[in-house]
Amino acid sequence: MPIAIKHQYSLREHNTFGLEVKAKQFISYQTIDELIEVLASLRDKGEQILHIGGGSNLLFTKDFEGTILHSEIKFIEEVSRDDQHIFFRVGSGVVWDDFCAQMARENYYGAENLSYIPGEVGASAIQNIGAYGVEVASIIHEVETIEVATGQPRVFQVQECEYGYRDSIFKNRLKGEYIVTSVVFRLSLIPVVRLDYGPLREFNSRSENLTAQAIRDAVIDIRRSKLPEPKEMGSAGSFFKNPVIPIEVYRAIAAAYTDVPHYVISEDEVKIPAAWLIEQCGWKGKRHGGAGVYEKQPLILVNLGHATANDIMELAALIQQSVFKKFNIQLEPEVNYI
Ligand code: EPU
Repeated sequence: MPIAIKHQYSLREHNTFGLEVKAKQFISYQTIDELIEVLASLRDKGEQILHIGGGSNLLFTKDFEGTILHSEIKFIEEVSRDDQHIFFRVGSGVVWDDFCAQMARENYYGAENLSYIPGEVGASAIQNIGAYGVEVASIIHEVETIEVATGQPRVFQVQECEYGYRDSIFKNRLKGEYIVTSVVFRLSLIPVVRLDYGPLREFNSRSENLTAQAIRDAVIDIRRSKLPEPKEMGSAGSFFKNPVIPIEVYRAIAAAYTDVPHYVISEDEVKIPAAWLIEQCGWKGKRHGGAGVYEKQPLILVNLGHATANDIMELAALIQQSVFKKFNIQLEPEVNYI
């Protein structure tokens, strides 16, 4: 199978913001052996390497003067099962929602709340994607990788992945050091459902049909009603993380805004929706150059047609400044600036 190498390659189809940026070199591979070969050829060249998935969480701030790698490793295979669980090994290049769709169709539980999240399987395990009360870490069994420096395989058990809110060892302590080639997921054969998150609670109260497929359908309806369709309007989903703040900061805000939404994280920490903070600062539906704040969900910055990376970065900075000024909270981007 030939390894596809492209030069001065447009990344427009590889970033969901739809920005027109180029990579000096773009390489896609279909097998682990090809990946090892590619890494060996790049080694010692001092070349900057970036591995991307679906490009749904990236903001390319300029042309990329190095090599971008992309996995086309695509398979979904059953590994084993016991009384309660079934295990699937899934290639890193599989579209995340194709995997969710298959699990729901076969009535295996665990991935349905994560339906319709853009991106690919490899990135899901790096980013610890989450939605509607579930994080992907809860169904990961192990993560199979190749070490960039040596080309050697290494399997990370889920406990070794240091998963946190939109965080993992691959994003953090070992950033850029390992490339995920496949992920082993553990799905439940018996219904285990999570329907306690806002809009899903409503679905739960009016529906008796709680199959994985029915929950998936409900999640897709909710996402479609709140989030921009990636094909129609460029965005990278939530632009900022929901901030976790000390309880005293929360109390100060609650004294002025009795209705501030919040989730208690621990005795002394509270999470506040960034969408609420941004809305309170008057940003909903606002525009800056070709970039905008999505009117139905202000946590999402959108490309209104001809946004440049600068438009988006400036808008993000302006939002951060006003949230800091009004609430003394520093919003942290969830999107990776490249
Ligand atoms: N809110 C407002 N104004 C709005 C919208 C929301 O004040 O216009 C407040 C409301 O209080 C609402 C709360 O924000 O209850 C939470 O909103 P939502 O349920 O839409 O979720 P979110 O916290 O803004 C997170 C994830 C999303 C994920 C949803 C659903 C992060 C950074 N984002 O958003 O993930 O889909 O929950 O679980 O954690 C993504 O990561 O790209 C993403 C879309």
